[in-house]
Amino acid sequence: MCYAIPGKVIDINNKIVTVEYFGEQKKAINEIDDLKVGDYIYAQGGYVIKNIPEAEAQSILTTWKETFFELQELDLRLSRLDLEKKGIDKKLALILDRAAEDLPLKEADLLHLLNLEDDKQIELLFKVANFLRQKHLGNSCCVHGIIEFSNYCSQGCLYCGISNHNKALPRYRMTKKEIIETAYEAIEKDGFKALVLQSGEDPEYSIDDLSDIVKEIKKRSAVLIFISFGEVGLDGLKKLYQAGARGLLMRFETSNKALYDKLHPGKTLENRLQHLEEAFKMGYLIITGGLIGLPGQAKTDILNDILLTKRLNTEMYTFGPFLPHPHTPLAKVKPPAVKDVLKTLAVARIAGGKDAKIVVTTGFETLYAGAREEGLIAGANSVMLNVTPKKYSENYSIYPGRAHAGEGIQEQIDTTLKVLRDLGRAPTDLGITHD
Ligand code: 5AD
Repeated sequence: MCYAIPGKVIDINNKIVTVEYFGEQKKAINEIDDLKVGDYIYAQGGYVIKNIPEAEAQSILTTWKETFFELQELDLRLSRLDLEKKGIDKKLALILDRAAEDLPLKEADLLHLLNLEDDKQIELLFKVANFLRQKHLGNSCCVHGIIEFSNYCSQGCLYCGISNHNKALPRYRMTKKEIIETAYEAIEKDGFKALVLQSGEDPEYSIDDLSDIVKEIKKRSAVLIFISFGEVGLDGLKKLYQAGARGLLMRFETSNKALYDKLHPGKTLENRLQHLEEAFKMGYLIITGGLIGLPGQAKTDILNDILLTKRLNTEMYTFGPFLPHPHTPLAKVKPPAVKDVLKTLAVARIAGGKDAKIVVTTGFETLYAGAREEGLIAGANSVMLNVTPKKYSENYSIYPGRAHAGEGIQEQIDTTLKVLRDLGRAPTDLGITHD
């Protein structure tokens, strides 16, 4: 199982190397000491993670080559933009034309897109977002794995099913050894090259424990590690970076300060954002975003969330629907409409960083069975698969009825690859996204 295509190093300039993939050149940051021009490597999220023998690279590339071009062609065909102007109102046509040309849009125009209600108009918005995704990122689609290693959480976020509001939930905590072994299997057996380690804010693991886990995983295998342990403090972020973590997954949840305060007792938006800003400065790749459909949230809040995500130099946007959990204070609040989630992904593609990745979240798949296919043709280009051992993952119930909960890893991989193949997407992550 292979989630990344080997690339050939054609230039090395200090830490930045140029890598070629079937004629396409990408840049990546290199931390391997003895890397030479002519070597074959795997890159993930803009980092060179592994040097591989030429014979192995050649054999993978031979099997990939034909498929790679076939997929590209299919994607190109599916994302072609022919804005059929008849019957579209002039204002929308002007906005979408500007978007397709990569011209900046006013906030009022972006809000107009988020407010669209007519299905035909919304369809055009998705087409433009899909066109831009193809134009800037080609057919590559990230497939990261996530290990949820503890559902203990000391925090009381009003919406969250693993928060301390939920007294009914059986809690679990994986041992260091279990976490390291789960990661090893996901990397060496299933082929994942980027893994997210996630937990509730669980004081049982010290920063040293978490650092040991990251170090040990990286010692055994080549992998890009994202940490997602909540607010570990700036010192904690520094130590975890030194241990080898290179990405931080942490949503700011909402950019509306009053709403943030209401939903996160004892927490501040300021502190959350400070983590994200400082992490970026330390060199972390950032995955962040917010919840869609929180009670009292307006469309302007969603737009502000997208714009804030961009300001945070985000590598991957993560926007998912709020889903009511019966054992939380927000049990009675309704989830958002499917089209509001899709519109958010599309506007994120139009207003966000040109090269940003946008993930179709498991939350969205839980709200709507067609989320993955429809999200991927409305601007998204990334998915995450759950590699937590089954006996634990059913209790990581941040929201109820999680999609894919009963599936094994191989089943998830098979269905994901089929969805990607049908859309002409290659499960790859080819190189750098910010300079
Ligand atoms: N519905 C949807 N997403 C949720 N999260 C927590 N609770 C819910 C819910 N009820 C999300 C938060 C958090 C991520 C790990 O899970 O956005 O950042």
